[in-house]
Amino acid sequence: MEKWLGVALLGFMTICCQKNEPIWPCSDETGLYTLSDFPIGVAVEPNNLSFNFLYKKITQEQYNSLTPENIFKPAYLQPEPGLFYWEEADSLVAFAIRHQKRIHGHTLVWHQQLPIWMDTYSGDAAAFDSLMKWHIQTVMRHFKGKVLAWDVVNEAFEDDGSLRNSIWRQKIGDSYLEKAFVYAHEAVPEAELFYNDYSLESNATKRKAVLDFLNAMRQKGLTINGIGLQMHLNLYVDRLQIATALQDFAAQGYKIHLSEVDIALNPLGQYAQPPASLLQEQANLLGAVVLYYKQLPKKLQYGITFWGVGDAHSWIRFKDGRDDYPLLYDDNYQTKPAYCQLKELL
Ligand code: G3I
Repeated sequence: MEKWLGVALLGFMTICCQKNEPIWPCSDETGLYTLSDFPIGVAVEPNNLSFNFLYKKITQEQYNSLTPENIFKPAYLQPEPGLFYWEEADSLVAFAIRHQKRIHGHTLVWHQQLPIWMDTYSGDAAAFDSLMKWHIQTVMRHFKGKVLAWDVVNEAFEDDGSLRNSIWRQKIGDSYLEKAFVYAHEAVPEAELFYNDYSLESNATKRKAVLDFLNAMRQKGLTINGIGLQMHLNLYVDRLQIATALQDFAAQGYKIHLSEVDIALNPLGQYAQPPASLLQEQANLLGAVVLYYKQLPKKLQYGITFWGVGDAHSWIRFKDGRDDYPLLYDDNYQTKPAYCQLKELL
């Protein structure tokens, strides 16, 4: 392991400072996943797969791993107490099976996108604990044999490394985090279990808190297979921090999923169109990330997932109400420099 770390550090330092020549435009006739040793994924919505031809075509041709962007979250799957709604989630899973794509289950326990009844639940700790267990286990068992890996808990830590005071923590206490993983493993022992969070590539304090938690779980003999680094990046991110983050998790033997990759380039919303120079910078940054990732031991490369098929579908536009251009395809489903750079480096 030490030898690997030395080699990796040298490689990471080199990649950090490389400049790449423009290679755009490029064709997307050869699917990205066919060029890659590890899975290349995308976050999708079943509605778009049903009604948007280009969205579906790109998903089918470019990616071999799919993350449900919203439809697996509790608000969608259990809108009323004990009443599960499977239809759309099942249609997505059927699509994945039909086209031989992996599904990454996202997400079982989070503080957002809960149904109102969960958010306003008035039962005591024991009742909320069994509610969490019931939700986790019902969902995992429903998809048993089809969804082999799960983000069990999403975004449980604050930026200062403390535990977020989510409804789960308020009702059950700090132990909810560990219990969620215990219940998940009990439901489907062969499933791979991930913890998923943001800013782990840029915030060393939060990263340490998450690593300490993962290690403590493992020391207790609990199953935790990997870490999801969301990687919602912008052009000003510190590349060496990204390299350090990957090394930190890899050194402890966790599988690494770059789970929600996008690169914002218009944080102040001043560009009505993305400037070519920024699109190239975006491509360069993605290139560096991919090269770092490729240096990880193969068995830890769970995959890289992009958080949306094209810019038109990015959560950033929806959330911030500003135009941004963070993904591989533009609003017209044409490849961007970031796509071409990725294709070159896989
Ligand atoms: O589907 C309804 C639609 O019927 C309604 O008219 C519309 C108006 O409000 O809302 C639509 O639902 C929205 C949903 O996305 C589907 O587009 C929700 O309001 C909106 O809040 C929701 O946003 C999602 C967000 O999580 C919720 O926090 C984003 O799509 C999704 O990309 C985002 O994903 C998260 C990851 O799960 C965890 N990491 C961060 C990431 C980005 O926030």
